[in-house]
Amino acid sequence: MDIQKGQNSTTSSILFLVLFLFLLPLTTAQTCSTAACHRGDPLIRFPFRLQNLQPNSCGYPHPGFTLSCDTTNQTLITLPNSGQFTVQGIDYGTQEIWINDPKNCLPGRLLSLNLSSSSFTAVYFQGFTLFNCSMDYRKYKLNPIACLSGDSYTVFATSSDKVVRRLASSCVEIGTVVVPVEWPFYEEVSSSDLSGDLLLTWAEPRCGRCEVRGGRCGLKSNSSVDVACTNAPKHGLPRSARYAITVGAGVPALLFAIGLLCFIIGRVKSYGRRRNTISDFMTSTAVPQPTVVTGLDGPTIDSFPKVVLGESRRLPKPNDNTCPICLSEYRPKETLRSIPECRHCFHADCIDEWLRLNPTCPVCRNSPDRSPRAQAV
Ligand SMILES: *[C@@H]1O[C@H](CO)[C@@H](O)[C@H](O)[C@H]1NC(C)=O
Ligand SMILES: *[C@@H]1O[C@H](CO)[C@@H](O)[C@H](O)[C@H]1NC(C)=O
Ligand SMILES: *[C@@H]1O[C@H](CO)[C@@H](O)[C@H](O)[C@H]1NC(C)=O
Ligand SMILES: *[C@@H]1O[C@H](CO)[C@@H](O)[C@H](O)[C@H]1NC(C)=O
Repeated sequence: MDIQKGQNSTTSSILFLVLFLFLLPLTTAQTCSTAACHRGDPLIRFPFRLQNLQPNSCGYPHPGFTLSCDTTNQTLITLPNSGQFTVQGIDYGTQEIWINDPKNCLPGRLLSLNLSSSSFTAVYFQGFTLFNCSMDYRKYKLNPIACLSGDSYTVFATSSDKVVRRLASSCVEIGTVVVPVEWPFYEEVSSSDLSGDLLLTWAEPRCGRCEVRGGRCGLKSNSSVDVACTNAPKHGLPRSARYAITVGAGVPALLFAIGLLCFIIGRVKSYGRRRNTISDFMTSTAVPQPTVVTGLDGPTIDSFPKVVLGESRRLPKPNDNTCPICLSEYRPKETLRSIPECRHCFHADCIDEWLRLNPTCPVCRNSPDRSPRAQAV
């Protein structure tokens, strides 16, 4: 009996010790723990914080970084002048946040969206024109915005110049919106219901590198906006990661060097401005063509999606920051066009000129569909 009792107390004291050791790191780091409005909702930590759940010192002291939970446990962000949006996801490494409308009618919010005084900017901008139409649209390949439409009228949004011209004759134009789209080159459709999440990014605080290294970012002190990275592995990257980087960066670097050499040789033979480079590019990369090939017509080229780059210049395909035609780097606010069949991006003026003479993608040689989907309108 006594022995058993003694065993029991030993067991419980060991248990207590284990629990204590287990809880010790938690209690010391407890000041800024991760929180969420509900299970499955985005995990919130620095630079964001959840009002009433995490202390002020756990979030970045700029507007927009203080989130809240609504009565249905959705995570809300408040953007100055634009109101509340739900937080759909956060990528702390790339510093990106996906938002949507709590009432599931995002297009209605876009007309009044103004990010200029917020801490966030778009990764990609895509312009859409909204139309209020009373025609029977069912014979057209148009995707109506249900939450803005009524029994006798239907609202559409399109980014295709060709569809804009067609709808302008039979519908009332509501306005144009610049949408911080999540992915600029959706499957080519004539119109979008604009229900997809908006993708925003923040420049400050810069915690992305700390996050990627596995560290925890936080304020250095209550009275400053300087951030510090803690708990990041001290000895840099593990050997396997260094090896992966050497191979991953070395091989493309070698290919790049070979490409650069070819380019320099080509450049020595004939030098000139962007236009000349384009014709160089066309002659130097064109495969032997047995027959005379004509390019695409203006309306077909116009129907390919365009996007304006945000300040971060992030492209759908990373490491693809140079236009393959004119070989100059993409800069913020430049207009790019993508060929839907292969999702390669180019400066719009470069690819337009190429496609007028050549019906294929200059990178992968896929031929864009000659019968554009927008023809349905
Ligand atoms: C919100 O979360 C709380 C606790 O996490 C739960 O009790 C409540 O039922 C949730 N409400 C809804 C509407 O899901
Ligand atoms: C956005 O808001 C700023 C002021 O915060 C204003 O100057 C600007 O004109 C607005 N932009 C649009 C497109 O309404
Ligand atoms: C569209 O037009 C109808 C009248 O034809 C009008 O009642 C409705 O409010 C308009 N909708 C929008 C979103 O402008
Ligand atoms: C920072 O603020 C927290 C509460 O917001 C407080 O507990 C802490 O003592 C403050 N730290 C300093 C250095 O002022």
